[in-house]
Amino acid sequence: MTQSNDVLIFDTTLRDGEQSPGATMTHDEKLEIAEMLDDMGVDIIEAGFPIASEGDFQAVSDIAKLSKSATICGLSRANYKDIDRCWEAVKHAKSPRIHTFIGTSPLHRAIPNLTMDEMAERIHDTVTHARNLCDNVQWSPMDATRTEWDYLCRVVEIAVKAGATTINIPDTVGYTAPRESADLIRNLIATVPGADEVIFATHCHNDLGMATANSLAAVEGGARQIECTINGLGERAGNTALEEVVMALKVRNDIMPYSTKIDTRKIMNISRRVATVSGFAVQYNKAIVGKNAFAHESGIHQDGMLKNRETFEVMKPEDIGLSGTSLPLGKHSGRAALRAKLNELGFDLADNQLNDVFVRFKDLADRKKEVFDDDLMALVYQNDTEDDRLKLKSLRVVCGTEGPQQADMVMVVDGADVETSATGDGPVDATFNAVKAIFPHGARLQLYQVSAVTEGTDAQATVSVRMEEDGRIATGQSADTDTVVASAKAYINALNRLLVRREKSEPGYDVKGVSYKDT
Ligand code: KIV
Ligand code: ZN
Repeated sequence: MTQSNDVLIFDTTLRDGEQSPGATMTHDEKLEIAEMLDDMGVDIIEAGFPIASEGDFQAVSDIAKLSKSATICGLSRANYKDIDRCWEAVKHAKSPRIHTFIGTSPLHRAIPNLTMDEMAERIHDTVTHARNLCDNVQWSPMDATRTEWDYLCRVVEIAVKAGATTINIPDTVGYTAPRESADLIRNLIATVPGADEVIFATHCHNDLGMATANSLAAVEGGARQIECTINGLGERAGNTALEEVVMALKVRNDIMPYSTKIDTRKIMNISRRVATVSGFAVQYNKAIVGKNAFAHESGIHQDGMLKNRETFEVMKPEDIGLSGTSLPLGKHSGRAALRAKLNELGFDLADNQLNDVFVRFKDLADRKKEVFDDDLMALVYQNDTEDDRLKLKSLRVVCGTEGPQQADMVMVVDGADVETSATGDGPVDATFNAVKAIFPHGARLQLYQVSAVTEGTDAQATVSVRMEEDGRIATGQSADTDTVVASAKAYINALNRLLVRREKSEPGYDVKGVSYKDT
Protein backbone atom coordinates (compact mmCIF):
# COMPACT_ATOMS: atom_id res chain seq x y z
CA MET A 1 0.00 0.00 0.00
CA THR A 2 1.57 3.35 -0.94
CA GLN A 3 1.39 5.83 1.87
CA SER A 4 -0.85 8.81 1.41
CA ASN A 5 -0.15 12.12 3.11
CA ASP A 6 -3.61 12.28 4.67
CA VAL A 7 -3.51 12.05 8.43
CA LEU A 8 -6.54 10.74 10.31
CA ILE A 9 -7.56 12.57 13.46
CA PHE A 10 -8.69 10.30 16.28
CA ASP A 11 -10.20 12.27 19.11
CA THR A 12 -10.28 10.72 22.56
CA THR A 13 -11.61 13.67 24.60
CA LEU A 14 -14.59 11.57 25.66
CA ARG A 15 -12.44 8.62 26.77
CA ASP A 16 -8.85 9.50 27.67
CA GLY A 17 -9.82 13.16 28.24
CA GLU A 18 -12.66 12.23 30.52
CA GLN A 19 -10.24 10.07 32.53
CA SER A 20 -8.61 13.24 33.97
CA PRO A 21 -9.58 13.39 37.62
CA GLY A 22 -12.65 15.62 37.94
CA ALA A 23 -13.36 15.97 34.21
CA THR A 24 -16.52 13.87 34.28
CA MET A 25 -19.06 14.96 31.69
CA THR A 26 -22.76 14.27 31.75
CA HIS A 27 -24.47 12.08 29.15
CA ASP A 28 -25.97 15.05 27.30
CA GLU A 29 -22.68 16.90 27.33
CA LYS A 30 -20.91 13.88 25.81
CA LEU A 31 -23.49 13.71 23.03
CA GLU A 32 -23.10 17.41 22.38
CA ILE A 33 -19.28 17.22 22.22
CA ALA A 34 -19.44 14.15 19.96
CA GLU A 35 -21.70 16.03 17.55
CA MET A 36 -19.30 18.98 17.51
CA LEU A 37 -16.35 16.65 16.83
CA ASP A 38 -18.24 14.96 14.01
CA ASP A 39 -19.17 18.34 12.51
CA MET A 40 -15.60 19.61 12.63
CA GLY A 41 -14.36 16.63 10.58
CA VAL A 42 -12.80 14.34 13.20
CA ASP A 43 -12.28 10.96 11.50
CA ILE A 44 -12.60 8.71 14.55
CA ILE A 45 -14.25 9.56 17.88
CA GLU A 46 -13.29 7.40 20.82
CA ALA A 47 -16.56 7.82 22.69
CA GLY A 48 -15.78 5.94 25.92
CA PHE A 49 -14.96 2.69 27.64
CA PRO A 50 -18.24 0.73 27.47
CA ILE A 51 -17.43 -1.88 30.15
CA ALA A 52 -16.41 0.81 32.66
CA SER A 53 -19.97 1.71 33.69
CA GLU A 54 -23.57 1.63 32.54
CA GLY A 55 -23.28 5.38 31.89
CA ASP A 56 -20.23 4.93 29.65
CA PHE A 57 -21.98 2.14 27.74
CA GLN A 58 -25.07 4.27 27.19
CA ALA A 59 -23.03 7.25 26.08
CA VAL A 60 -21.00 5.25 23.54
CA SER A 61 -24.09 3.55 22.21
CA ASP A 62 -26.08 6.82 21.87
CA ILE A 63 -23.12 8.57 20.24
CA ALA A 64 -22.86 5.63 17.81
CA LYS A 65 -26.58 5.92 16.95
CA LEU A 66 -26.32 9.67 16.33
CA SER A 67 -23.01 9.61 14.44
CA LYS A 68 -22.87 11.19 10.98
CA SER A 69 -19.50 10.83 9.21
CA ALA A 70 -17.12 9.92 12.01
CA THR A 71 -16.16 6.35 12.88
CA ILE A 72 -17.22 5.63 16.47
CA CYS A 73 -14.78 3.70 18.58
CA GLY A 74 -14.98 2.20 22.06
CA LEU A 75 -12.14 1.01 24.28
CA SER A 76 -11.83 -2.50 25.71
CA ARG A 77 -9.19 -4.40 27.65
CA ALA A 78 -7.78 -7.65 26.28
CA ASN A 79 -10.60 -9.96 27.30
CA TYR A 80 -13.71 -11.25 25.54
CA LYS A 81 -16.20 -9.71 27.98
CA ASP A 82 -14.82 -6.19 27.46
CA ILE A 83 -14.67 -6.64 23.71
CA ASP A 84 -18.25 -7.99 23.51
CA ARG A 85 -19.55 -5.09 25.59
CA CYS A 86 -17.65 -2.64 23.42
CA TRP A 87 -19.14 -4.13 20.27
CA GLU A 88 -22.67 -3.96 21.75
CA ALA A 89 -22.19 -0.20 22.17
CA VAL A 90 -20.40 0.74 18.93
CA LYS A 91 -22.28 -1.57 16.57
CA HIS A 92 -25.03 1.06 16.06
CA ALA A 93 -22.63 3.41 14.29
CA LYS A 94 -22.52 3.72 10.52
CA SER A 95 -18.82 3.04 10.92
CA PRO A 96 -17.95 1.20 14.19
CA ARG A 97 -14.49 0.41 15.55
CA ILE A 98 -13.35 -1.78 18.45
CA HIS A 99 -10.18 -0.63 20.19
CA THR A 100 -8.51 -3.22 22.39
CA PHE A 101 -5.27 -2.85 24.35
CA ILE A 102 -2.87 -4.53 26.75
CA GLY A 103 0.24 -3.23 28.53
CA THR A 104 3.31 -4.76 26.87
CA SER A 105 6.25 -3.16 28.70
CA PRO A 106 8.03 -5.19 31.42
CA LEU A 107 6.30 -3.14 34.13
CA HIS A 108 2.88 -3.79 32.64
CA ARG A 109 3.50 -7.44 31.81
CA ALA A 110 4.20 -8.00 35.50
CA ILE A 111 0.72 -6.90 36.56
CA PRO A 112 -1.31 -9.76 35.03
CA ASN A 113 1.84 -11.83 35.60
CA LEU A 114 2.01 -13.06 32.00
CA THR A 115 5.14 -14.34 30.31
CA MET A 116 6.02 -12.89 26.94
CA ASP A 117 4.61 -15.98 25.23
CA GLU A 118 1.40 -15.96 27.26
CA MET A 119 0.83 -12.31 26.46
CA ALA A 120 1.48 -12.94 22.76
CA GLU A 121 -1.17 -15.66 22.81
CA ARG A 122 -3.64 -13.38 24.61
CA ILE A 123 -3.09 -10.70 21.95
CA HIS A 124 -3.70 -13.20 19.16
CA ASP A 125 -6.91 -14.48 20.74
CA THR A 126 -8.43 -11.14 21.69
CA VAL A 127 -7.68 -9.37 18.40
CA THR A 128 -9.09 -12.38 16.52
CA HIS A 129 -12.22 -12.24 18.68
CA ALA A 130 -12.64 -8.49 18.04
CA ARG A 131 -12.10 -8.95 14.32
CA ASN A 132 -14.78 -11.65 14.19
CA LEU A 133 -17.23 -9.04 15.49
CA CYS A 134 -16.11 -5.95 13.61
CA ASP A 135 -14.02 -5.40 10.51
CA ASN A 136 -12.45 -2.25 11.94
CA VAL A 137 -10.18 -3.15 14.87
CA GLN A 138 -7.54 -1.02 16.54
CA TRP A 139 -4.96 -2.62 18.78
CA SER A 140 -2.67 -0.81 21.24
CA PRO A 141 0.36 -2.12 23.16
CA MET A 142 0.07 0.18 26.19
CA ASP A 143 3.40 1.70 27.29
CA ALA A 144 4.80 0.84 23.87
CA THR A 145 7.61 3.36 24.20
CA ARG A 146 9.00 1.46 27.22
CA THR A 147 8.55 -1.97 25.62
CA GLU A 148 11.60 -3.83 24.26
CA TRP A 149 11.68 -3.03 20.51
CA ASP A 150 12.02 -6.66 19.40
CA TYR A 151 9.09 -7.75 21.58
CA LEU A 152 7.06 -4.81 20.29
CA CYS A 153 7.73 -5.93 16.70
CA ARG A 154 6.70 -9.46 17.61
CA VAL A 155 3.37 -8.49 19.20
CA VAL A 156 2.52 -5.95 16.52
CA GLU A 157 3.04 -8.68 13.91
CA ILE A 158 0.69 -10.98 15.84
CA ALA A 159 -1.98 -8.26 16.04
CA VAL A 160 -1.68 -7.51 12.32
CA LYS A 161 -1.96 -11.21 11.44
CA ALA A 162 -4.98 -11.57 13.74
CA GLY A 163 -6.75 -8.84 11.77
CA ALA A 164 -6.07 -5.49 13.44
CA THR A 165 -6.52 -2.71 10.90
CA THR A 166 -4.93 0.07 12.97
CA ILE A 167 -1.92 -0.32 15.23
CA ASN A 168 -1.66 2.42 17.81
CA ILE A 169 1.68 3.04 19.52
CA PRO A 170 0.99 4.76 22.85
CA ASP A 171 3.52 6.80 24.74
CA THR A 172 1.44 6.16 27.84
CA VAL A 173 3.61 8.04 30.32
CA GLY A 174 4.92 10.78 28.04
CA TYR A 175 8.43 9.36 28.09
CA THR A 176 9.60 9.39 24.49
CA ALA A 177 11.21 12.28 22.61
CA PRO A 178 10.67 13.40 19.00
CA ARG A 179 13.57 11.58 17.31
CA GLU A 180 12.83 8.33 19.14
CA SER A 181 9.11 8.68 18.42
CA ALA A 182 9.80 8.90 14.66
CA ASP A 183 12.38 6.08 14.74
CA LEU A 184 10.07 3.74 16.60
CA ILE A 185 7.29 3.99 14.01
CA ARG A 186 9.78 3.89 11.13
CA ASN A 187 11.34 0.73 12.57
CA LEU A 188 7.97 -0.99 13.03
CA ILE A 189 6.93 -0.21 9.46
CA ALA A 190 10.26 -1.44 8.11
CA THR A 191 10.40 -4.59 10.23
CA VAL A 192 6.92 -6.00 10.78
CA PRO A 193 5.60 -8.20 7.94
CA GLY A 194 2.25 -6.82 6.74
CA ALA A 195 2.90 -3.38 8.29
CA ASP A 196 2.15 -1.68 5.00
CA GLU A 197 -1.39 -3.09 5.10
CA VAL A 198 -2.36 -1.30 8.32
CA ILE A 199 -2.44 2.26 9.60
CA PHE A 200 -0.02 3.17 12.38
CA ALA A 201 -1.29 5.60 14.98
CA THR A 202 0.49 7.73 17.57
CA HIS A 203 -0.97 8.40 21.03
CA CYS A 204 1.16 10.69 23.17
CA HIS A 205 0.87 11.96 26.72
CA ASN A 206 2.38 15.23 27.81
CA ASP A 207 4.29 14.41 31.01
CA LEU A 208 7.47 16.04 29.72
CA GLY A 209 5.68 18.63 27.59
CA MET A 210 6.61 16.87 24.33
CA ALA A 211 3.29 15.28 23.32
CA THR A 212 2.57 17.43 20.28
CA ALA A 213 6.19 17.31 19.05
CA ASN A 214 6.25 13.53 19.55
CA SER A 215 3.00 13.06 17.61
CA LEU A 216 4.23 15.14 14.69
CA ALA A 217 7.56 13.28 14.70
CA ALA A 218 5.65 9.98 14.59
CA VAL A 219 3.88 11.24 11.47
CA GLU A 220 7.30 11.95 9.93
CA GLY A 221 8.15 8.34 10.82
CA GLY A 222 5.08 7.03 8.96
CA ALA A 223 2.14 7.23 11.39
CA ARG A 224 -1.06 8.28 9.66
CA GLN A 225 -3.40 8.61 12.63
CA ILE A 226 -2.90 11.09 15.45
CA GLU A 227 -4.72 10.48 18.72
CA CYS A 228 -5.51 13.65 20.58
CA THR A 229 -7.98 15.54 22.74
CA ILE A 230 -9.50 18.99 22.70
CA ASN A 231 -7.42 21.38 24.86
CA GLY A 232 -5.04 18.46 25.52
CA LEU A 233 -7.41 17.17 28.21
CA GLY A 234 -6.26 13.88 29.71
CA GLU A 235 -4.68 12.02 32.61
CA ARG A 236 -1.90 13.85 34.52
CA ALA A 237 -0.38 16.42 32.11
CA GLY A 238 -2.86 15.45 29.41
CA ASN A 239 -2.67 14.25 25.81
CA THR A 240 -1.58 15.75 22.53
CA ALA A 241 -3.93 18.67 21.87
CA LEU A 242 -6.01 18.36 18.70
CA GLU A 243 -5.81 22.08 17.99
CA GLU A 244 -2.01 22.06 18.25
CA VAL A 245 -1.29 19.21 15.84
CA VAL A 246 -3.92 20.32 13.35
CA MET A 247 -2.76 23.94 13.28
CA ALA A 248 0.92 22.93 13.19
CA LEU A 249 0.23 20.76 10.13
CA LYS A 250 -1.70 23.59 8.50
CA VAL A 251 0.72 26.42 9.25
CA ARG A 252 3.93 24.44 8.56
CA ASN A 253 2.65 22.47 5.60
CA ASP A 254 5.80 23.53 3.76
CA ILE A 255 7.94 21.25 5.92
CA MET A 256 5.23 18.82 7.10
CA PRO A 257 3.23 18.15 3.93
CA TYR A 258 0.39 16.22 5.61
CA SER A 259 -3.26 17.16 5.65
CA THR A 260 -6.28 16.55 7.86
CA LYS A 261 -10.01 16.95 7.24
CA ILE A 262 -10.52 19.22 10.25
CA ASP A 263 -12.44 22.46 9.75
CA THR A 264 -10.13 24.58 11.88
CA ARG A 265 -12.70 27.40 12.16
CA LYS A 266 -14.60 25.21 14.61
CA ILE A 267 -11.65 24.89 16.99
CA MET A 268 -12.34 27.83 19.28
CA ASN A 269 -15.96 26.96 19.77
CA ILE A 270 -15.33 23.35 20.77
CA SER A 271 -12.36 24.35 22.93
CA ARG A 272 -14.58 26.68 24.95
CA ARG A 273 -17.33 24.12 25.23
CA VAL A 274 -14.98 21.37 26.42
CA ALA A 275 -13.46 23.78 28.97
CA THR A 276 -16.92 24.56 30.31
CA VAL A 277 -18.34 21.05 30.49
CA SER A 278 -15.16 19.42 31.79
CA GLY A 279 -14.53 22.19 34.31
CA PHE A 280 -10.90 22.41 33.09
CA ALA A 281 -10.26 26.03 32.17
CA VAL A 282 -7.74 26.64 29.40
CA GLN A 283 -4.54 28.27 30.62
CA TYR A 284 -4.12 31.83 29.30
CA ASN A 285 -0.85 31.11 27.47
CA LYS A 286 -1.98 27.79 25.94
CA ALA A 287 -0.99 27.46 22.28
CA ILE A 288 -3.79 28.19 19.78
CA VAL A 289 -6.76 28.42 22.18
CA GLY A 290 -5.42 30.30 25.22
CA LYS A 291 -6.84 33.75 25.89
CA ASN A 292 -3.45 35.34 25.17
CA ALA A 293 -2.67 33.34 22.02
CA PHE A 294 -3.52 36.36 19.87
CA ALA A 295 -2.99 39.12 22.45
CA HIS A 296 -0.19 41.65 22.03
CA GLU A 297 0.84 43.68 25.03
CA SER A 298 4.24 45.25 24.42
CA GLY A 299 4.55 48.47 22.45
CA ILE A 300 6.96 46.98 19.90
CA HIS A 301 4.62 44.08 19.22
CA GLN A 302 1.54 46.30 19.00
CA ASP A 303 3.32 48.64 16.63
CA GLY A 304 4.43 45.73 14.44
CA MET A 305 0.93 44.25 14.42
CA LEU A 306 -0.59 47.54 13.31
CA LYS A 307 1.84 47.69 10.38
CA ASN A 308 1.67 44.03 9.41
CA ARG A 309 -0.14 41.30 11.34
CA GLU A 310 2.39 38.70 10.24
CA THR A 311 5.18 40.36 12.24
CA PHE A 312 3.98 38.64 15.41
CA GLU A 313 1.35 36.09 14.36
CA VAL A 314 1.90 32.84 12.46
CA MET A 315 -1.81 32.25 11.89
CA LYS A 316 -4.95 34.33 11.72
CA PRO A 317 -7.45 34.33 14.61
CA GLU A 318 -10.16 33.68 12.01
CA ASP A 319 -8.44 30.38 11.11
CA ILE A 320 -9.59 28.96 14.43
CA GLY A 321 -12.97 30.69 14.42
CA LEU A 322 -12.05 33.77 16.43
CA SER A 323 -13.14 36.97 14.80
CA GLY A 324 -12.37 39.27 17.73
CA THR A 325 -14.78 41.77 16.24
CA SER A 326 -17.42 43.53 18.27
CA LEU A 327 -20.95 42.57 17.47
CA PRO A 328 -22.53 45.14 15.19
CA LEU A 329 -25.89 44.60 16.85
CA GLY A 330 -27.56 47.06 19.15
CA LYS A 331 -30.53 46.82 21.43
CA HIS A 332 -32.75 47.68 18.48
CA SER A 333 -31.51 44.81 16.32
CA GLY A 334 -33.92 42.06 15.43
CA ARG A 335 -33.93 38.27 15.45
CA ALA A 336 -32.81 37.99 11.82
CA ALA A 337 -29.60 39.91 12.48
CA LEU A 338 -28.96 37.84 15.59
CA ARG A 339 -29.53 34.60 13.67
CA ALA A 340 -27.13 35.71 10.92
CA LYS A 341 -24.44 36.55 13.48
CA LEU A 342 -24.90 33.24 15.28
CA ASN A 343 -24.66 31.34 12.00
CA GLU A 344 -21.40 33.16 11.30
CA LEU A 345 -20.15 31.95 14.70
CA GLY A 346 -21.08 28.38 13.81
CA PHE A 347 -24.42 28.03 15.66
CA ASP A 348 -27.53 26.77 13.99
CA LEU A 349 -30.26 27.23 16.58
CA ALA A 350 -33.85 26.04 16.47
CA ASP A 351 -36.46 28.83 16.64
CA ASN A 352 -37.23 28.34 20.33
CA GLN A 353 -33.52 28.37 21.23
CA LEU A 354 -33.04 31.54 19.19
CA ASN A 355 -35.91 33.17 21.08
CA ASP A 356 -34.27 32.35 24.43
CA VAL A 357 -30.92 33.75 23.29
CA PHE A 358 -32.66 36.81 21.87
CA VAL A 359 -34.24 37.63 25.23
CA ARG A 360 -30.86 37.29 26.96
CA PHE A 361 -29.16 39.35 24.26
CA LYS A 362 -31.63 42.24 24.68
CA ASP A 363 -31.14 42.17 28.40
CA LEU A 364 -27.34 42.24 28.01
CA ALA A 365 -27.36 44.95 25.33
CA ASP A 366 -29.26 47.15 27.79
CA ARG A 367 -26.54 46.74 30.41
CA LYS A 368 -23.25 46.43 28.55
CA LYS A 369 -21.50 48.99 26.35
CA GLU A 370 -20.25 46.55 23.71
CA VAL A 371 -21.47 43.03 23.05
CA PHE A 372 -18.63 40.91 21.66
CA ASP A 373 -18.80 37.57 19.88
CA ASP A 374 -17.58 35.91 23.07
CA ASP A 375 -20.46 37.47 25.02
CA LEU A 376 -22.88 36.08 22.51
CA MET A 377 -21.40 32.59 22.75
CA ALA A 378 -21.74 32.73 26.53
CA LEU A 379 -25.42 33.59 26.09
CA VAL A 380 -25.92 30.61 23.80
CA TYR A 381 -24.40 28.26 26.34
CA GLN A 382 -26.56 29.58 29.15
CA ASN A 383 -28.98 26.72 29.25
CA ASP A 384 -31.92 27.74 31.39
CA THR A 385 -35.33 27.14 29.80
CA GLU A 386 -38.95 28.13 30.26
CA ASP A 387 -39.68 24.65 31.68
CA ASP A 388 -37.23 24.98 34.58
CA ARG A 389 -38.85 24.26 37.93
CA LEU A 390 -36.53 26.65 39.76
CA LYS A 391 -35.87 30.21 38.62
CA LEU A 392 -34.08 33.17 40.12
CA LYS A 393 -36.43 36.14 40.41
CA SER A 394 -34.33 38.65 42.34
CA LEU A 395 -31.16 38.81 44.34
CA ARG A 396 -29.70 41.53 46.53
CA VAL A 397 -26.38 40.85 48.22
CA VAL A 398 -24.69 42.83 50.96
CA CYS A 399 -20.94 42.30 50.93
CA GLY A 400 -17.78 44.10 51.97
CA THR A 401 -15.10 44.03 54.63
CA GLU A 402 -17.57 43.58 57.50
CA GLY A 403 -19.05 40.08 57.49
CA PRO A 404 -21.21 38.13 57.50
CA GLN A 405 -22.34 38.71 53.94
CA GLN A 406 -26.05 38.46 53.32
CA ALA A 407 -28.18 37.44 50.33
CA ASP A 408 -31.87 38.39 50.04
CA MET A 409 -33.38 36.20 47.36
CA VAL A 410 -36.68 35.53 45.68
CA MET A 411 -36.94 32.35 43.63
CA VAL A 412 -39.85 31.02 41.63
CA VAL A 413 -40.34 27.38 42.56
CA ASP A 414 -42.92 25.50 40.48
CA GLY A 415 -44.57 28.81 39.61
CA ALA A 416 -44.75 30.26 43.15
CA ASP A 417 -42.53 32.97 44.62
CA VAL A 418 -40.47 31.91 47.64
CA GLU A 419 -38.42 34.45 49.53
CA THR A 420 -35.52 34.15 52.00
CA SER A 421 -32.46 35.80 53.48
CA ALA A 422 -29.27 33.90 54.25
CA THR A 423 -25.79 34.76 55.43
CA GLY A 424 -22.51 33.14 54.44
CA ASP A 425 -18.78 33.36 54.25
CA GLY A 426 -18.66 35.71 51.27
CA PRO A 427 -21.37 36.77 48.82
CA VAL A 428 -21.36 33.54 46.79
CA ASP A 429 -21.61 31.37 49.89
CA ALA A 430 -24.50 33.52 51.18
CA THR A 431 -26.22 33.21 47.80
CA PHE A 432 -25.85 29.43 47.65
CA ASN A 433 -27.12 29.21 51.25
CA ALA A 434 -30.19 31.20 50.21
CA VAL A 435 -30.88 28.75 47.36
CA LYS A 436 -30.52 25.87 49.83
CA ALA A 437 -32.88 27.54 52.30
CA ILE A 438 -35.52 27.95 49.58
CA PHE A 439 -34.93 24.54 48.04
CA PRO A 440 -33.31 22.16 50.52
CA HIS A 441 -31.35 19.45 48.78
CA GLY A 442 -28.59 16.95 49.37
CA ALA A 443 -26.62 17.62 46.21
CA ARG A 444 -22.93 18.29 46.74
CA LEU A 445 -21.06 21.08 45.00
CA GLN A 446 -18.13 19.45 43.18
CA LEU A 447 -16.87 22.40 41.18
CA TYR A 448 -17.34 26.16 41.08
CA GLN A 449 -15.48 28.01 38.38
CA VAL A 450 -15.61 31.65 37.27
CA SER A 451 -14.03 33.19 34.20
CA ALA A 452 -14.32 36.56 32.54
CA VAL A 453 -15.73 36.33 29.02
CA THR A 454 -14.15 39.52 27.69
CA GLU A 455 -12.02 42.37 28.98
CA GLY A 456 -13.11 45.34 31.09
CA THR A 457 -14.95 45.89 34.34
CA ASP A 458 -18.31 45.49 32.63
CA ALA A 459 -17.27 42.08 31.23
CA GLN A 460 -19.63 39.19 31.70
CA ALA A 461 -18.54 36.42 34.02
CA THR A 462 -19.29 32.84 33.01
CA VAL A 463 -19.81 30.56 35.95
CA SER A 464 -19.79 26.76 35.80
CA VAL A 465 -21.06 24.69 38.64
CA ARG A 466 -20.99 20.92 38.94
CA MET A 467 -23.23 19.13 41.44
CA GLU A 468 -23.37 15.50 42.41
CA GLU A 469 -26.08 13.55 44.13
CA ASP A 470 -26.22 9.76 44.49
CA GLY A 471 -23.77 9.32 41.63
CA ARG A 472 -25.75 11.60 39.31
CA ILE A 473 -23.82 14.59 38.04
CA ALA A 474 -25.22 17.76 36.56
CA THR A 475 -23.47 20.90 35.47
CA GLY A 476 -24.95 24.36 35.29
CA GLN A 477 -23.66 27.37 33.47
CA SER A 478 -24.61 30.99 33.36
CA ALA A 479 -23.20 34.32 32.33
CA ASP A 480 -23.92 37.78 33.67
CA THR A 481 -22.17 41.09 34.15
CA ASP A 482 -22.73 40.48 37.88
CA THR A 483 -20.59 37.55 39.04
CA VAL A 484 -22.82 36.73 42.01
CA VAL A 485 -25.96 36.71 39.85
CA ALA A 486 -24.17 34.44 37.34
CA SER A 487 -23.19 32.16 40.25
CA ALA A 488 -26.77 31.96 41.55
CA LYS A 489 -28.13 31.20 38.07
CA ALA A 490 -25.49 28.55 37.38
CA TYR A 491 -26.19 26.86 40.70
CA ILE A 492 -29.96 26.90 40.08
CA ASN A 493 -29.35 25.66 36.54
CA ALA A 494 -27.41 22.65 37.85
CA LEU A 495 -30.18 21.90 40.36
CA ASN A 496 -32.79 22.03 37.59
CA ARG A 497 -30.80 19.57 35.54
CA LEU A 498 -30.36 17.30 38.52
CA LEU A 499 -34.12 17.40 39.07
CA VAL A 500 -34.80 16.47 35.45
CA ARG A 501 -32.39 13.57 35.73
CA ARG A 502 -33.89 12.40 39.01
CA GLU A 503 -37.44 12.67 37.70
CA LYS A 504 -36.55 10.73 34.57
CA SER A 505 -35.26 7.77 36.55
CA GLU A 506 -37.60 8.02 39.54
CA PRO A 507 -40.78 9.88 38.57
CA GLY A 508 -42.29 11.95 41.37
CA TYR A 509 -39.06 11.97 43.40
CA ASP A 510 -37.33 15.22 44.27
CA VAL A 511 -33.63 15.71 44.98
CA LYS A 512 -33.08 13.76 48.23
CA GLY A 513 -36.84 13.27 48.37
CA VAL A 514 -37.27 16.73 49.87
CA SER A 515 -39.20 19.38 48.03
CA TYR A 516 -39.51 22.90 49.35
CA LYS A 517 -43.18 22.13 50.05
CA ASP A 518 -42.19 19.56 52.70
CA THR A 519 -40.15 21.99 54.75
O1 KIV B 1 -2.18 6.06 27.08
C1 KIV B 1 -2.51 4.91 26.74
O2 KIV B 1 -1.71 3.98 26.68
C2 KIV B 1 -3.90 4.67 26.44
C3 KIV B 1 -4.24 3.35 25.86
C4 KIV B 1 -5.45 2.77 26.46
C5 KIV B 1 -4.35 3.45 24.38
O3 KIV B 1 -4.73 5.55 26.59
ZN1 ZN C 1 -3.73 7.54 26.82
